[in-house]
Amino acid sequence: MNFLQNKTAIVTGASKGIGKAISFDLAKNGCNLFLVSRTEKDLEKTKKEILKIYDVKVHFFSADIKNFNEVKNTFDKIFNIENKIDILINNAGITKDNILARMTENDWQDVIETNLSGYFNCCKHIIKNMIRNKYGRIINISSVIGSNGNTGQINYAASKAGLKGLTKSLSKEVGARNITVNSISPGFIETDMTEELKDLNKKKFLNNISLKRFGSPNEVAKLVSFIASDDAAYITGQTITIDGGIN
Ligand SMILES: NC(=O)c1ccc[n+]([C@@H]2O[C@H](COP(=O)([O-])OP(=O)(O)OC[C@H]3O[C@@H](n4cnc5c(N)ncnc54)[C@H](OP(=O)(O)O)[C@@H]3O)[C@@H](O)[C@H]2O)c1
Repeated sequence: MNFLQNKTAIVTGASKGIGKAISFDLAKNGCNLFLVSRTEKDLEKTKKEILKIYDVKVHFFSADIKNFNEVKNTFDKIFNIENKIDILINNAGITKDNILARMTENDWQDVIETNLSGYFNCCKHIIKNMIRNKYGRIINISSVIGSNGNTGQINYAASKAGLKGLTKSLSKEVGARNITVNSISPGFIETDMTEELKDLNKKKFLNNISLKRFGSPNEVAKLVSFIASDDAAYITGQTITIDGGIN
């Protein structure tokens, strides 16, 4: 199965959790990778682990997606190595949960700047490259919280809901250029991000999931690889949910 052979992807938040699983699955399908997140040593470790198993090209750059110029400089360095980027996986994200009464302005801004403006920064700096190459797959990792909402997550829910509009609008702008733009909305996936949740909250979530289990990063990664493939050429502007059936 090498359906992504000769393709190249940028994956943000590639050092951990869902982003790491996505990077492995893309590599499994033959895709070359540029891994991006803030912590260099984690990226280096991910690169080594991928290269132990898969025969693909892997580079990494540490960058903060919140910073417009840092993303520009990083993407320029990437274009110097590879001038045709086929796939952008916007995955890096954070939570800073609190009820509105206790949420600080900083908690609000940090989450919006990472989960929404950060995705704008990456789309902004990739789009001319994809337009020039007349090909592109942009996949934004959203969340079911963006449509369902959740107590203590107004910042996170707003950022993820914003991605739905960004995805739909950008898909209309670039569809004629053979570029698809989709969001994937995971439910509860077991990563460091959800590890922080208290057991009581986890039990509450579990009760509402039809399949009565949490999802794995690998399950999300397989969906991402499909949307990134040529077989998904007629899917654009969509938000695709993968949540085990949340009621
Ligand atoms: N886990 C879930 O249940 C779940 C459900 C729905 C949606 N999601 C979404 O899936 C995505 C991945 O989540 P996860 O659970 O895998 O989280 P995670 O394990 O905490 O990993 C987050 C990744 O994002 C990177 N990152 C965070 N802030 C960044 C920044 N400003 N610039 C660059 N990289 C940054 C982190 O690396 P550094 O800290 O080193 O930068 C890390 O690689 C997020 O967008 C999240 O909202 C997760």
